[in-house]
Amino acid sequence: MPTLTPVRTGGALVDSFGRVATDLRVSLTDRCNLRCTYCMPAEGLSWLPQPELLTDEELVRLVRVAVSLGVTQVRLTGGEPLIRRGIVELVAQFAALDPRPQLALTTNGLGLDKLAAPLAAAGLDRVNVSLDTVDRAAFTALTRRDRLDDVVKGLAAAADAGLTPVKVNAVAMRGINVDSAPELLQWCLERGYELRFIEQMPLDAQHEWDRAAMVTQAELLERLSSRFALTPTAAQGRGSAPAQTWLVDGGPAVVGVIASVSAPFCGACDRVRLTADGQLRSCLFARTEDDLRTTMRAGASDEQLGAQMVRLMAAKKAGHGIDDPTFLQPDRPMSAIGG
Ligand code: 5AD
Ligand code: SF4
Repeated sequence: MPTLTPVRTGGALVDSFGRVATDLRVSLTDRCNLRCTYCMPAEGLSWLPQPELLTDEELVRLVRVAVSLGVTQVRLTGGEPLIRRGIVELVAQFAALDPRPQLALTTNGLGLDKLAAPLAAAGLDRVNVSLDTVDRAAFTALTRRDRLDDVVKGLAAAADAGLTPVKVNAVAMRGINVDSAPELLQWCLERGYELRFIEQMPLDAQHEWDRAAMVTQAELLERLSSRFALTPTAAQGRGSAPAQTWLVDGGPAVVGVIASVSAPFCGACDRVRLTADGQLRSCLFARTEDDLRTTMRAGASDEQLGAQMVRLMAAKKAGHGIDDPTFLQPDRPMSAIGG
């Protein structure tokens, strides 16, 4: 493998606002084995054509270049990353990079019962499992699949494999999991999982997103406070960590809220995204992306690929502007960008 000398310590992926990208989110596939209503249509979503997907070798190469430019954390996402064949070997290759990045995974939990231990052995450090409700009927209606039991098994396997702290992500949705938010928190507390609610962002190509109808952090905290005493943690000045956290009943357990819309953290953003088809995006909501796949397949050197990454990041916009009337949704669904 060709070697690449680090361009600059302290991070070369810096934008005009001085933010440095150190957290690379890599989508391994746009496909998924659930069909969450807020993410995908029941059927008929067209998938990325196979030849356009990055091969394992190409993925490892791009991540290696990004690591040489200061990326210290790699988060594998999708679609559903666990359905990519060879994910354990991929994780092992990412773990062998020098310097070794922290390795995290965002998954819906299906298949994690079998994969948690091998992934941990290969070098995975942490998991986030998306689980919006533990009510079986509500789960089945929301994901259009009766698979709650598999997610529950996956979570348990992650904890057993030491992929801790196991975090549970729940998108807050009126009529689905807001009234029962205290039950979901109780369920997570009993199992030692750290629950984080996420404000729903306008990422769904199918439905209109309504800012006024969105469940805000304030409303969630009010709901949870009906059952639990919540006190802000010391980490409340949250830096680039998007979740604000509260101690539950005096701690040590915490609950988090990711208020991407009502309290955006764009000013401290340290993220950059690579889609499964090799496009680099400086933001989930970016209107442009950079085609690293074509550059790479045309025979570019690592240095040229690195220079392209640096250029894209330099042009990163200040924020997502969701609350701005001129806001435009991204052209691709979240499953094709990477969560
Ligand atoms: N807003 C907020 N979070 C979302 N996710 C999917 N769609 C949205 C949205 N519109 C979540 C998933 C998962 C993570 C990758 O993103 O539920 O937890
Ligand atoms: Fe799959 Fe996640 Fe989309 Fe649900 S939200 S369909 S689990 S990618």
